[in-house]
Amino acid sequence: MDEVVRLSAVRRVFGGGGAGGGVTALDGVTATFRAGTFTAVMGPSGSGKSTLLQCAAGLDRPTSGSVVVAGVELDRLGETALTRLRRDRIGFVFQAYNLVSSLTAEQNVGLPLRLAGRWPKRAEVRDVLAEVGLADRAGHRPGELSGGQRQRVAIARALVTRPAVLFADEPTGALDTATSRDVLALLRALADRHGQTIIMVTHDPVAASRADRVVFLADGRLAGELAAATPEQVAAHVTRLEARAC
Ligand SMILES: Nc1ncnc2c1ncn2[C@@H]1O[C@H](COP(=O)(O)OP(=O)(O)OP(=O)(O)O)[C@@H](O)[C@H]1O
Ligand SMILES: [Mg+2]
Repeated sequence: MDEVVRLSAVRRVFGGGGAGGGVTALDGVTATFRAGTFTAVMGPSGSGKSTLLQCAAGLDRPTSGSVVVAGVELDRLGETALTRLRRDRIGFVFQAYNLVSSLTAEQNVGLPLRLAGRWPKRAEVRDVLAEVGLADRAGHRPGELSGGQRQRVAIARALVTRPAVLFADEPTGALDTATSRDVLALLRALADRHGQTIIMVTHDPVAASRADRVVFLADGRLAGELAAATPEQVAAHVTRLEARAC
């Protein structure tokens, strides 16, 4: 199966009740994401990027439209089945890492397996930590790690279940330029070496240019896409969208 994620006419309206007047965060988005590809999602603040990711990852439910992940239609699933699918097939990385501060890197990475009722094998967890370049930090707690290292732990935790797709919402948003470049190189390597499908929201044209494809959103709708773009091409497209929004 070539297609890992498919959104069809996805709409997400927040609030408003029956009387209208809600906020339309996504206004009919149709998009597909192929296996093994690295896609960046860009667009002005408030354009619906995080909402798109949350709906695609089964963390939020669209108001209408459908989402298929790894061949499963999410809207047909009840809460328990959706939670299980999210846990087993979907990885999610946040800007703020969201690690458990009292647990070591190794324990944080093993957490999704424990939540799935499995006792993580030491080698399994250490292998993922090695993949993100943190083999020597397994026993460190988040407070003893740099921002970039914390994000690597969060990426390892998202990868430990070997998910069909890894979502990342501004994963480098809290990092300095050099550390951001390292984390992006890691994501690029995961796509190249392991065929990991990645969908990443970013505001940074340089970050987006590392992706195979950049998808743009404006006002909750798709607003163009670029393949194998340079940072300059990405930045120019963002500028056009922002000018349109003013
Ligand atoms: N839980 C919510 N309740 C009400 N409105 C929401 C909620 N989440 C998002 N919105 C609204 O939906 C729109 C899209 O928000 P979203 O967070 O998806 O934007 P974004 O593109 O990720 O922005 P940013 O770049 O600032 O992170 C915004 O107008 C936002 O205010
Ligand atoms: Mg956002």
